[in-house]
Amino acid sequence: MATTLITGGTVVSATGRGAADLLIDGERIVALIEPGATVLGANLTETVDTVIDATGKYVIPGGIDAHTHMSMPFGGTTAADTFETGTRAAAWGGTTTIIDFAVQKFGERVQDSLQTWHDMAAGECAIDYSFHQIIGDVNDESLRAMRELPGEGISSFKLFMAYPGVFYSDDAQILRAMQTGADTGLLTMMHAENGPAIDVLVGQLLAQGKTDPYYHGIARAWELEEEATHRAIMLAKLTGAPLYVVHVSAKQAVAQLAAARDRGQNVFGETCPQYLYLSLEDQLGAPGFEGAKWVCSTPLRSKHDHHQDEAWQALRTNDLQMVSTDHCPFCMKGQKDMGIGDFSKIPNGIGSVEHRMDLMYQGVVDGKISLERWVEITATTPARMFGLYGRKGVLAPGADADVVIYDPNGHTSIGVEATHHMNMDHSAWEGYEIDGHVDTVLSRGKVVVDDNTYLGRKGDGRFVRRDPCQYLT
Ligand code: URP
Ligand code: ZN
Ligand code: ZN
Repeated sequence: MATTLITGGTVVSATGRGAADLLIDGERIVALIEPGATVLGANLTETVDTVIDATGKYVIPGGIDAHTHMSMPFGGTTAADTFETGTRAAAWGGTTTIIDFAVQKFGERVQDSLQTWHDMAAGECAIDYSFHQIIGDVNDESLRAMRELPGEGISSFKLFMAYPGVFYSDDAQILRAMQTGADTGLLTMMHAENGPAIDVLVGQLLAQGKTDPYYHGIARAWELEEEATHRAIMLAKLTGAPLYVVHVSAKQAVAQLAAARDRGQNVFGETCPQYLYLSLEDQLGAPGFEGAKWVCSTPLRSKHDHHQDEAWQALRTNDLQMVSTDHCPFCMKGQKDMGIGDFSKIPNGIGSVEHRMDLMYQGVVDGKISLERWVEITATTPARMFGLYGRKGVLAPGADADVVIYDPNGHTSIGVEATHHMNMDHSAWEGYEIDGHVDTVLSRGKVVVDDNTYLGRKGDGRFVRRDPCQYLT
């Protein structure tokens, strides 16, 4: 097996940083060594197959994006990134594992939907991948099927309080699914927005001629995120189900999570880069139909109410535990433009899988989070939360050699022309400048990105079976 030594870098973990060399044998990390140390009398730089010089750079565990939707059928179309294009873009950006969602549609068997996602991803991915299971039709049969998920290496499932007539579950269905999840050792993931109330507001706004993308954010009011978050927490409390609320954007929803955690409940929240940087006014409210680029649910929130600052603060204080992208890209032409004249027909989703590590690193540069917290919220907590820790999310002997060498003196310009490898005709992050750069990415010991060149191949990535989730983060 080929051996690699990454020398001269600063190894950063969730708990600290320090000078260390990283020795890799084949697909695994075998040792962290004092820089320059000899091992059994030998200088390792002379005995390994490959030496990678990381002087002046950070050496971190590869990012884990625990919320992506490659090729997801949604809003009358299909998310533009396939497993091939989306995972390659992820690798470019320093993410070495994604957890995507297998989607059980209404009337479909859970097992069949999971097989469909396996078939879509197998042999296509640039990096390792796993699945959560969306339960879009809670009934006796799907509840039985949920009990088989741990045996399939799936330790989490997602329910929707939004999207009536599509993926929506009512309270009775949520209660039953949470009971089954708690009983089976599955983590309940929740899209927490009050869908039926949103649909009433959507109809009223459209009837008033308010059809622009901006009104997507008005219809999906923060009160309806707070209410649903609270309801989900209460149902989780009643059933004893651990709860993970996805794509949290409203500060009031964060407060509900924080209060529940303070009461000792096992509840967790993820936010996404768009809720930290972008706003209702500046993006959704962009002139003409431009705002469609940023139509996603939950929606971008008002900058005047400081939701963005509160989300950064919650990341600092661990009221929110991690950052995923909710990568669900749609092109403007032929996809988002289905909603010209009716914002409710704009497919919901933003593409960011390539930029999460950079955008969160900019938070370090801007003094919003520490270097260690950057690693924690993008790699280590996702690994722990979703049953990958030990293999992923950490640079330690025995772990997969998923490694990113990040240059704090580098620079990254984000945009369609500049750096973008996602299958989209626009970037939600056009013009963003990052004071850092993903230099080298190793996926299970193989260099897949180096010096602005992609060196991997489709099919490098494998399905990763997950252990039970760890809740006490
Ligand atoms: O707008 C979004 N979030 N699209 C993806 C589907 C979901 O709800 O996560
Ligand atoms: Zn969702
Ligand atoms: Zn999503």
